[in-house]
Amino acid sequence: MSTQLAHHRPQWKTHIGFLLAAIGSAIGLGNIWRFPYLCYKNGGGAFLVPYFIALVVVGVPLMILEIGLGHKMRGSAPASYAAVSKNWEWTGWWQIIFVMFGIVLYYSVVISWCLNFFFYSFNISWGADPNSFFFKNFLMLSSSPFQIGNVRAPILLALTIVWTLNWLIVFLGVEKGLERANKFFMPLLFILIAVLVFWSLRLSGAAEGLRVYLRPDFSKLKEAGVWIDAFSQIFFTLSLGFGIMIAYASYLPRKTEIVKDSITISLTNCLFSIFAGCGVFAVLGYMAQATAQPIGEVVSQSIGLAFVAFPKAISLLPAFSRIFGILFFGSLVIAGLSSSISIIEAFTSGIVDKFHYSRKPVVSILCISGFFGSIIFATQGGLFWLDIADHFLTQYGLVVAAIMECIIVGWIYRSKKLREHINHTSTFGLSALWDNLVKIVIPIVLVILLVNSLINEFAVPYENYPVLSLIVIGRDWLIFTLFLALIVSARAWKIEPSQREQH
Ligand code: PHE
Repeated sequence: MSTQLAHHRPQWKTHIGFLLAAIGSAIGLGNIWRFPYLCYKNGGGAFLVPYFIALVVVGVPLMILEIGLGHKMRGSAPASYAAVSKNWEWTGWWQIIFVMFGIVLYYSVVISWCLNFFFYSFNISWGADPNSFFFKNFLMLSSSPFQIGNVRAPILLALTIVWTLNWLIVFLGVEKGLERANKFFMPLLFILIAVLVFWSLRLSGAAEGLRVYLRPDFSKLKEAGVWIDAFSQIFFTLSLGFGIMIAYASYLPRKTEIVKDSITISLTNCLFSIFAGCGVFAVLGYMAQATAQPIGEVVSQSIGLAFVAFPKAISLLPAFSRIFGILFFGSLVIAGLSSSISIIEAFTSGIVDKFHYSRKPVVSILCISGFFGSIIFATQGGLFWLDIADHFLTQYGLVVAAIMECIIVGWIYRSKKLREHINHTSTFGLSALWDNLVKIVIPIVLVILLVNSLINEFAVPYENYPVLSLIVIGRDWLIFTLFLALIVSARAWKIEPSQREQH
């Protein structure tokens, strides 16, 4: 161990600060707008069975792996893998490059939409037809990914605010920025969501909404698609495979509780999803009743849920509808920001570890580039770009990187060694079962996800987009990030990564 490294590495000031930051990364837009829909679509309450199996078999063990590795190597993803073997350093770069120069670019744009809708809520600007308001007036959506059109001014304006906040928080550092921001954001988010859920549950029709959301249809569990949805949601929702938890754990003190923390973070995230889903479906139940339609007609996911269905429901609310809108979109902004800052931190720590540049200029340059990189998604064709980039980066980049991660830690470093470290630092111990999950079970699950995506990919072009757009925006983007990763990993280290390991 090099004392120089130990001396310079920032540290979380409090343990709860670390927990809130990790939970903040995990809880994001996906918890509010994706989980409830997945649950509804895949057998309601019955979906909780594959979801919790995925959580126990893949989610928690991989969370333990990432937190354990970051703690042991006291480094970002590239530094940690490089400490295992220089040959695999590129995997770490690839993870943090495709999130920083991919996911966070459009994630920030979606936060910007939420910020706009936060302000629109003050006078319910979407009027009687939120669908055409969102697509025609707000996005001014073009007709194909190749028609980029103009940059949308309201989105650009909000984007400036979002990137300024991203910058400010990460610029201030681990303790003064990330820890402080999450200590403010997370309790606030919990309060806002609690208010929203209890408010929604009192609406007429709420009970019917909840019934539709959670009514178990166990026959669905025979469908492979349901299991695939559960396992892929677990990765994304827990922010695993992006190198984020590795970086966050590298700022932990020597004595810590890796297993207990991993369980706390994962469980809080998943319970949050289920809880938020109650609010979402209570509102949909209310809307179904108010418009005398079945719930199946009013339900939708992701963008459709947040920017069309919810605005419509908000307009229909009997009282204080504006406040409901403000709280809802405010929650989305907070959930989003606490995730986007984790991405920027994961990348910053990689650069600082390898090149020893000072943190502040790195963060500044990164956020300026991030802002400019986001602009393509703020154009009239932006939604198409977002959809395609997201599909490829998460279905392929994330999955392949996570397979590599299991191989690097499980087989090359040897999970037994990491397990000994984890058991040594924590009161809660792991058994050899964890080794088998990391070395065999999780990679198999991931390969199944990958093969399934590939089969679908070749069956029909994703969402029927022009094939050329899928190749250029999807596949080539991914290849480009991989190429960058190889270049960066070929550069020399300031201090040899093998010295990082703590004993
Ligand atoms: N976990 C976040 C969510 O569910 C998504 C996320 C992905 C956050 C990647 C950070 C990095 O929305």
